[in-house]
Amino acid sequence: MTINEAKFAGSCTRVSQKPSRKLPEFAFIGRSNVGKSSLINMLCGNRKLAKTSQTPGKTKLINHFLINDSWYLVDLPGYGFAKISKEGREELRKMINDYIGQSEDMVLLFVLIDCRHDITRIDRDFITGLGENGIPFAIIFTKCDKLGPNALKAQIERDRHILSEQWEELPPMFTSSADTGAGRDEILEYIRKYI
Ligand code: GTP
Ligand code: MG
Repeated sequence: MTINEAKFAGSCTRVSQKPSRKLPEFAFIGRSNVGKSSLINMLCGNRKLAKTSQTPGKTKLINHFLINDSWYLVDLPGYGFAKISKEGREELRKMINDYIGQSEDMVLLFVLIDCRHDITRIDRDFITGLGENGIPFAIIFTKCDKLGPNALKAQIERDRHILSEQWEELPPMFTSSADTGAGRDEILEYIRKYI
């Protein structure tokens, strides 16, 4: 699938405020700074579409991007960001969970994991919540340009091992790099099958 057109369609904090057109949504979630916004830009071939930052906690709202006038990519705020108040973190957590639980148009959630580190307790707890609520998801290992092929393979194996302690069947997994464009075709092809 090719993305011919990607437009910002609005920011919201809850389902009742999201764009009114009922179109399939594919959302990106993960820890702050994992590369959600950068990945959306890479998929769309537009570095300026979603705002990115070296400082974690950049995306604080739920942002919709209308793709090919027929579906949405949704950029969610990061979870588990330590450098905000407990109340602020709780508010974000609620915003994310309410949205994921309530948006009837959400087809699939991509959970992003930084390929340089073992999957964290926070990620695992989040994934457990998805399982408990029956929310379909896939995993994307981001920033794969930062590791050589062997190290990347070994890291993914470790994460698969960690996840299989809890899950009998593992979700689909992809690797991506916003810098090199790796993973773009595979992720878009995967989305296409759902549309
Ligand atoms: P929040 O909105 O703060 O939750 O962060 P985010 O997950 O949207 O991350 P963002 O896309 O803003 O990227 C965070 C930092 O990681 C930026 O400095 C990006 O340039 C960098 N980054 C993102 N993706 C990649 C990647 O694939 N490779 C490399 N080398 N750097 C990346
Ligand atoms: Mg962001």
